[in-house]
Amino acid sequence: MELKLVQAPFETVEADALIAVAPEGSAQAPAAGLEDVDRACGGWIAEIHATGEFRGKAYDAAVLHRPAGIAARRLIVAGAGKTANAAEIRRAVGAAIRAAKRIGAAKLAVVVPEGGAAVAQAVAEGVVLGDWDSDRYKTGNDRHPIESCAILASGDVAAAIERGRIVAESQNFARDLQNEPPNVLGPLALAERARAMAAEQGLECEILDQDQMRQLGMGSLLAVAQGSVQPPALIVLRYKPAGGGAGDHLGLVGKGVTFDTGGISIKPSDNMDKMKYDMSGAAAMIGAMRAIAQLKPAIAVTAFAPTVENMPGGKAQRPGDIVTSLSGKTVEVLNTDAEGRMILNDAITYAKRLGCTHLVDAATLTGAIVVALGHHYTGVFSNNGAFQDKFLASAARQGEKMWPMPLDDEFKDQIKTPFADVANVGGRAGGSITAALFLREFAEDTPWIHLDIAGTASYDDGRPFAAKGAAGVAVRSLVDLALNW
Ligand code: BES
Ligand code: MN
Ligand code: ZN
Repeated sequence: MELKLVQAPFETVEADALIAVAPEGSAQAPAAGLEDVDRACGGWIAEIHATGEFRGKAYDAAVLHRPAGIAARRLIVAGAGKTANAAEIRRAVGAAIRAAKRIGAAKLAVVVPEGGAAVAQAVAEGVVLGDWDSDRYKTGNDRHPIESCAILASGDVAAAIERGRIVAESQNFARDLQNEPPNVLGPLALAERARAMAAEQGLECEILDQDQMRQLGMGSLLAVAQGSVQPPALIVLRYKPAGGGAGDHLGLVGKGVTFDTGGISIKPSDNMDKMKYDMSGAAAMIGAMRAIAQLKPAIAVTAFAPTVENMPGGKAQRPGDIVTSLSGKTVEVLNTDAEGRMILNDAITYAKRLGCTHLVDAATLTGAIVVALGHHYTGVFSNNGAFQDKFLASAARQGEKMWPMPLDDEFKDQIKTPFADVANVGGRAGGSITAALFLREFAEDTPWIHLDIAGTASYDDGRPFAAKGAAGVAVRSLVDLALNW
């Protein structure tokens, strides 16, 4: 899709549909902000508001054909709800784009509401994210991609729109990786996708193979990989700012399980297909690096994506196995389905050895986080309050819902075992907390944030502003964190 900034009066812009964002009004009157559009189309917005057909409720959309006084063939008014901040405007625009796609409108224009650069960026992101669909493998001709979208804004917002395009396209890149079926995207295929992206974007890329990992002593990661005929990989992507950066070095660690059967502790078959999304943490980090390569923050950033397939093959690890991780700590494998923390701990240790001063990991780690926070909030854990606050501010700016979870030593007894330094599971109670505590044992004193994205990595039913399928969660927040370091 072609995205362009156009500085012209909205009435004069030719398009299949012109999109305008409406905050939610009261029963008495529409909210302020759309008076000009309402006047141009002869009071239609005030009229549907008065009848109660459309009052700007979040993600509602109303369509007017052949609006007199407007050059576009249709006017789509997109509800942004009572909040109507940048985050809700992003979603409202996304919902309007999806409505436009459904009716086959291909050439669009969007009126950017008041609010400066942050709102202009959110509009650009809403357009690109709303256009994305899960239809890569559909062979029919019922696809309706948006051809072009004019962003109608005044003021100095060109850079913000370009930033929004880059970040949203990178989020969509992550979504495409997530959506790939597990027969197509195994560990080596994921590594090749990362390598190709790095070559395109000018990032350094190194892919550690099984032998290199064996030599380093990544016994925990390799234990998970041994049940599959597909060899594992550790993807490393490096971004260095001009001049080398001022000391801090951000490490992004993403869980890349291309399919999680559970291994010998095998999962029930219901919904097992969703376990293709178990590489969403890796996809988020690779997607974030794609944007970082183009937006060039001042801090050095390296992504680490350990990638494996968790299968119950004849060589698979067993419950009861004890393995030695790269850190030297031993892990008793009480459940082979708790494989994410086993591949992440070696990647976290490796990231520290390569000089990362701050770490963020993202992982579809536990079903327990879905019980705790549902499908709307990502769970955030950290060993450093100031770092966590900084990240939560990025998430809030980017409209990604995230919620801080406790990391309390009192839970530590649950992952104690007489047989090794740590057990890989800690029982049902507080399952996402004991998983995070397990990872903290390896992050140690390095400022570290863990994102449990098991509930937010994909939309099982789609949303008005997003297709059913991959969500690309965390990309925008991670890029924001690096840019605002
Ligand atoms: N990949 C799963 C977590 C998951 C569950 C992601 C549901 C998305 C949706 C993870 O590897 C896993 O299996 N975790 C176990 C841990 C348990 C064995 C301690 C879980 O949550 O059941
Ligand atoms: Mn698992
Ligand atoms: Zn998993």
